[in-house]
Amino acid sequence: VGFHFVYKSLMWHFVKCLSKVHINHIYCTRALATVGPSIPFNQTQNCKHLEGLVSAQVQLCRSNLDLMHSVVQAARHVRTTCRKTFSDMRWNCSSIELAPKFKPDLERGTRESAFVYALSAASISHTIARACTTGELRGCSCGPITSELQGAGYRWGGCGDNLNYGLLMGSKFLDSPMKVKRSGSQAKLMNLMNLHNSEVGRQLLSAAVEIKCKCHGVSGSCSVRTCWQGLQELSLVAADLKVRYLSATKVVHRPVGTRKQLVPKDIDVRPVTDTELVYLHSSSDFCSRNEKMGSSGTQERQCNKTSNGSDSCDLMCCGRGYNPYTETLVERCHCKYHWCCYVTCKRCERVVERYVCK
Ligand SMILES: *[C@@H]1O[C@H](CO)[C@@H](O)[C@H](O)[C@H]1NC(C)=O
Ligand SMILES: *[C@@H]1O[C@H](CO)[C@@H](O)[C@H](O)[C@H]1NC(C)=O
Ligand SMILES: *[C@@H]1O[C@H](CO)[C@@H](O)[C@H](O)[C@H]1NC(C)=O
Ligand SMILES: *[C@@H]1O[C@H](CO)[C@@H](O)[C@H](O)[C@H]1NC(C)=O
Repeated sequence: VGFHFVYKSLMWHFVKCLSKVHINHIYCTRALATVGPSIPFNQTQNCKHLEGLVSAQVQLCRSNLDLMHSVVQAARHVRTTCRKTFSDMRWNCSSIELAPKFKPDLERGTRESAFVYALSAASISHTIARACTTGELRGCSCGPITSELQGAGYRWGGCGDNLNYGLLMGSKFLDSPMKVKRSGSQAKLMNLMNLHNSEVGRQLLSAAVEIKCKCHGVSGSCSVRTCWQGLQELSLVAADLKVRYLSATKVVHRPVGTRKQLVPKDIDVRPVTDTELVYLHSSSDFCSRNEKMGSSGTQERQCNKTSNGSDSCDLMCCGRGYNPYTETLVERCHCKYHWCCYVTCKRCERVVERYVCK
């Protein structure tokens, strides 16, 4: 449900695109980035071809067709950003490629799914907020001017990302499946968890506003600056979320006062905070392959012998040891500048030692 659904649906089109034998990966990525290979969002009836959407989402699609391009883009950003952010970890987000058939690592209410939900919520609002500045959306334009920017040497100008609109439409679109009444206490609990984590993603995005400026003045003297409010790149928000992922809290559903709420499992009374990712089920340690837990294991994963972080051979290989192999890198070298105006380079080969987990 939720973004998983949207994501699955979009990725399903992507997978279908790929399965047309002679169409390659880059083509499909590009096709999905521009319109989506089989979903041109120019007619409202296209909305019903997006499988897995709940009726509120289909309605939103019909009344905001121009938003759908951003939704597709957001799904792509989630995929690439998640993989990049976790490339040095045992769980490296590779299972996101399996859409629409996710494995338990992303289905079971784990901290990994908490991260993906939060990132998805941040991504969709981020993409919409940015799209407002390009004029491609009917419902919004540049973000509002903030008064604190009016000062000496500053001039308000440019076109700021419209965070408020991004948050509004992003949550409307993403949260509606989680607000559908579901039977079964487990399903309800998952909805609560997913809603909370989506909200965390939006909170962190809201904290990622920065003032961006451009200099003017005689030969770049910067005597006048034009400034606007912009959002940081999604990868920075993802890095922040990764920190929260590492310190995520396992929760249970308990009465607090008159209402049942998500509370940390180990500490009875404290309610969870707005910026804390929560999960219901513990994950595998992702050391060895375990289909039931959705773990691919780290055998054959590359590790870094000199690092002392999570990509170190020690941690990545879970103490099993590692095998060295050599790789030949071809690089441009001895580059020379010729007057005027070109550069010639030689090709040099360099042998580097690399390691993979046993
Ligand atoms: C929508 O886009 C498709 C593919 O680009 C095109 O064939 C179709 O004529 C378009 N429909 C409208 C109503 O613009
Ligand atoms: C991510 O992990 C999977 C499973 O261990 C592995 O097959 C894949 O090569 C890894 N991807 C990267 C980029 O390291
Ligand atoms: C391994 O880790 C070290 C220290 O963090 C880093 O400088 C180096 O670039 C890494 N090597 C590779 C191949 O990633
Ligand atoms: C790695 O080692 C350096 C130097 O010993 C230390 O400053 C750094 O905090 C360590 N990083 C981790 C992730 O342990």
